[in-house]
Amino acid sequence: MRERERWGTRIGLVLAASGNAVGLGNFLRFPVQAAKHDGGAFMIPYFLAFFLLGIPLMWVEWAIGRYGGIRGHGTSPGTFQLLWKNRSAKYLGIIGIVCPLVIIVYYTYITSWTVGYAVFSLCNKLPKVHTIGTLEETLQPFSHFLQRYTGTGDFFLTPSLYAYGIYVFTLLLSMLILARGIARGIELLAKIAMPLLFLFAVFLVIRVLTLGSPVHPEGNPLKGLAFLWEPRFSKLLDLNIWLAAAGQMFFTLSLGMGALLTYASYLRERDDIVLSGLTTATTNEFAEVVLGSSIAIPAAVVFFGVANTEIIAREGAYHLGFVSMPAVFSFIPLGNIFGFLWFALLFFAGITSIVALTQPAVAFLEEECCMEKGKAVCCVGSFLFFSGHIPILLQGTLDELDFWAGTFFITFFAAAEIILFFWIFGSKKAWDEMHRGADIPIPRIFFFLCRYVTPTILIIIFGGWMIQHGWQEMLETSFPKWIARMYLLMTFFLAGFLVHKAWKKRETSL
Ligand code: PHE
Repeated sequence: MRERERWGTRIGLVLAASGNAVGLGNFLRFPVQAAKHDGGAFMIPYFLAFFLLGIPLMWVEWAIGRYGGIRGHGTSPGTFQLLWKNRSAKYLGIIGIVCPLVIIVYYTYITSWTVGYAVFSLCNKLPKVHTIGTLEETLQPFSHFLQRYTGTGDFFLTPSLYAYGIYVFTLLLSMLILARGIARGIELLAKIAMPLLFLFAVFLVIRVLTLGSPVHPEGNPLKGLAFLWEPRFSKLLDLNIWLAAAGQMFFTLSLGMGALLTYASYLRERDDIVLSGLTTATTNEFAEVVLGSSIAIPAAVVFFGVANTEIIAREGAYHLGFVSMPAVFSFIPLGNIFGFLWFALLFFAGITSIVALTQPAVAFLEEECCMEKGKAVCCVGSFLFFSGHIPILLQGTLDELDFWAGTFFITFFAAAEIILFFWIFGSKKAWDEMHRGADIPIPRIFFFLCRYVTPTILIIIFGGWMIQHGWQEMLETSFPKWIARMYLLMTFFLAGFLVHKAWKKRETSL
């Protein structure tokens, strides 16, 4: 068996894992999910999801990843096969490659917008708040600017050549980092990008929260914070909110899709996972709940009001931060520099996550299909390049892919992981595995949570949602929805075929 790569240092590992988790999800997706699902109503299931789903799953996924890595498998098909001696286990594991791969298809594109906007900001090309008009009038130039950048159309979008060129640049840069490997590429990138990201974010939070009411007496940052933090209980019977909260929790912690599993597979047998996992989870939540929630939403409420903020959130899963933040920058001294910092921050957050999302596919080709690293990176890169044209050119496909890969399948896969580990592999063995080399003990209550509570909640949310909304959602048809679903299906088939071939080859060579 070929010697596996390993993380260089503990701090490097934690920064890389945090870089993996802290991403566009924290600064762009979270505000949209919260605004779309009624702010304060969303935050209740969200916090419950952190303690009851996020933390347990974080330890489980690290433990599963390390268990597989020591035995030569860095991705879920191989690892699941180790945990469950059943022929179908490896096919269940396919979700752990397909989900990150599909997310990366649009995630790279959105990360590239951050580069585009950073340059616009430096060159002073972003729109400005000119007139003191109604909230709608203030909003218009900003949403039009984004539409012009990404292209408009009922079916086909024609993005600017500039947007397209920057997308290609972002993809190439990510592949270059991946080709350098774990310690020299990913770890190094995280050590530089993560501290910068936090620095910029703190800076921006202070700026946004001290904006006052520059355009409209109705719009001030406190209103934005109240929208998010005033609990609302009336909508809690709707499972859409619960699925969205669970999905966002997994998305932001990079759980339930095999990405952290692959990172954990580069651990050594006696490396701690309890403290590192917890540090990763808390760092991410700090970035999301303290920093992420105090930038885009309060800014949007200041300039466009609560109602318009909800409308922008419905327009696109990642739009809010691109629409609301330029308004802030147009209003403050040195705005173009602040703007540049915000988009640079998003770029750092995005690029460390792109690398993490791509790693499972690369590791799969390397380990299970015996490909050289360079060749594996080229194969995945080309696949991403061609697939990237779906969200770039077809209206509506981006959000559809984001729902299936970023909410639906990751919740399902998270349930599969924890049930596999704590019920099929064995709860006692699983608990011991989590504790091997641990720097701190896990409170006993988490045993109970992992074995009973977390799986039950996931089954209820998932099953309940299927009954309450699932059929309706699946029957809803439109051209972009079908294209996105067919693409997803095709990717599943492709991954299934590769898994089948890899195991066949292994069986015949034994
Ligand atoms: N957690 C990342 C974010 O919040 C997204 C991501 C998911 C990254 C899975 C890597 C793996 O944006």
